[in-house]
Parts: sequence; structure tokens; C-alpha cells
Amino acid sequence: MGQRGVFITFEGIDGAGKTTQIDALEQWLKQEGVEVVRTREPGGTPLGEAIRAMLLHEGMHVTTETLLFFAARAEHISRVIEPALARGAWVLSDRFTDATYAYQVGAKGYPARHVEALESLVQGDLQPDHTVLFDVEPEIAAERLARVRELDRFETEDVEFFRNVRQAYLTRAAQMPSRFFILNTNRDKELVCEELLSEARKWR
Ligand SMILES: Nc1ncnc2c1ncn2[C@@H]1O[C@H](COP(=O)(O)OP(=O)(O)OP(=O)(O)O)[C@@H](O)[C@H]1O
Ligand SMILES: [Mg+2]
Repeated sequence: MGQRGVFITFEGIDGAGKTTQIDALEQWLKQEGVEVVRTREPGGTPLGEAIRAMLLHEGMHVTTETLLFFAARAEHISRVIEPALARGAWVLSDRFTDATYAYQVGAKGYPARHVEALESLVQGDLQPDHTVLFDVEPEIAAERLARVRELDRFETEDVEFFRNVRQAYLTRAAQMPSRFFILNTNRDKELVCEELLSEARKWR
């Protein structure tokens, strides 16, 4: 058996700049000869993408929403994440369970104990090795998104909602400082990228 891969997740409010920077990191890792599996939540599998479409476009109770996120996650872990890590690939996931704590618990008030129970049921001991938290002012993120595309059900929430999401992420990062790396994305893309890559060099 070769060495197990590295599981990295990317978090932050909508429009924080995740896609932009994951592109850069993926390119760098491939140049280094690393096998990269790029994926996202909700989604990552055919069934997960079908669940994603429901989550982003249908209104629903927060319990339904949370269960659907974990249903998609169970597929994602068993079919994509675990097999990739087992063969030594690096998995780059645009969002994972920290997003459930930030959006459903932090911003919508869903009880953390329910998420903890689902996390343990669905993930067992699986946790990301590193989590990059893209931290940006909600007003700046909203402005960037409005320039580029039509917004989905989560993205049309108000600034207050995203302030709560951001705060929940920061609180979680403070509780688990060795897993989290906070990246200030209020700044120029090139600067943000340099900082991310210099952190990523430490993970190799
Ligand atoms: N540091 C930056 N400065 C200015 N604009 C940026 C920066 N980073 C990203 N952008 C632009 O902001 C928009 C949103 O960025 P991006 O799609 O990477 O965010 P995201 O976090 O992936 O969003 P989502 O959560 O919706 O997937 C894009 O048009 C992107 O080019
Ligand atoms: Mg994105």
C-alpha cells in the first residue's frame, strides 16, 4: 500500500473567491506531479449533483436541508473522497461539513448537536487534513457575485445572513486552529494566491 492522500477543504461565504484560488492550487499541485481530485459540495457524484439542484433551487425546512446535505455527503465520501485518499491522491473539496455548521447552525439556528450526530454517522473518523477559510467582507463578496451571475437560493440571502455565516466560520476556525488556515480574500487575487501557495508548500 502506498501513502494515503491529503484531504483539503475550502470554505467561506458565497463569492469569497474559492473557485478562483482552487484553480490556482490545482494547477500548482499538478505541476508538482501530485494526483489531484477536484470536487465540490453539495455534489461530487451524479446523485449528489441531483441533490445539489434541489438544495439550490427549492425552498425547504432546515431539517430537510441538513439531511439532504448529509445524504449527498455520504455518497461523496464513499464514492469519491475515500477511494481517492486510499490511492494517495490529494482531494480538493469546495466546501464540506464546516459549511453545514456555518450555514445551517450558525446562520439558520439548526441545533449543533444534530449536526454532530449526523457528522459522526456519515463521516466516522474522516476529517479534512487542512481547511482553507476564505474570509471576506460580505458586502465585497456580494458585489463580486452580482457582477458575474444569477444568484441561487443561498446567495440571495441578505448581508446579515452572510455576516452570521462568516462569524460561525471564524468561531470554528478559532476552535480548531491547527486544521484551519484563514486566508484574507479582501485583497488582490495575485496576493491571495501567493499566500495560499506558500501555505500549501508546508502540506507536502
Ligand atoms: N481577490 C479577488 N479580488 C477581486 N475579485 C475577485 C477576487 N477573487 C475572486 N474574484 C472574482 O469574484 C467573483 C467570485 O469569485 P469565485 O467564483 O472564485 O468565488 P467563490 O467563492 O467560488 O463563489 P461561490 O461560493 O459562489 O462558488 C469572480 O468573478 C472572481 O473573478
Ligand atoms: Mg465557487
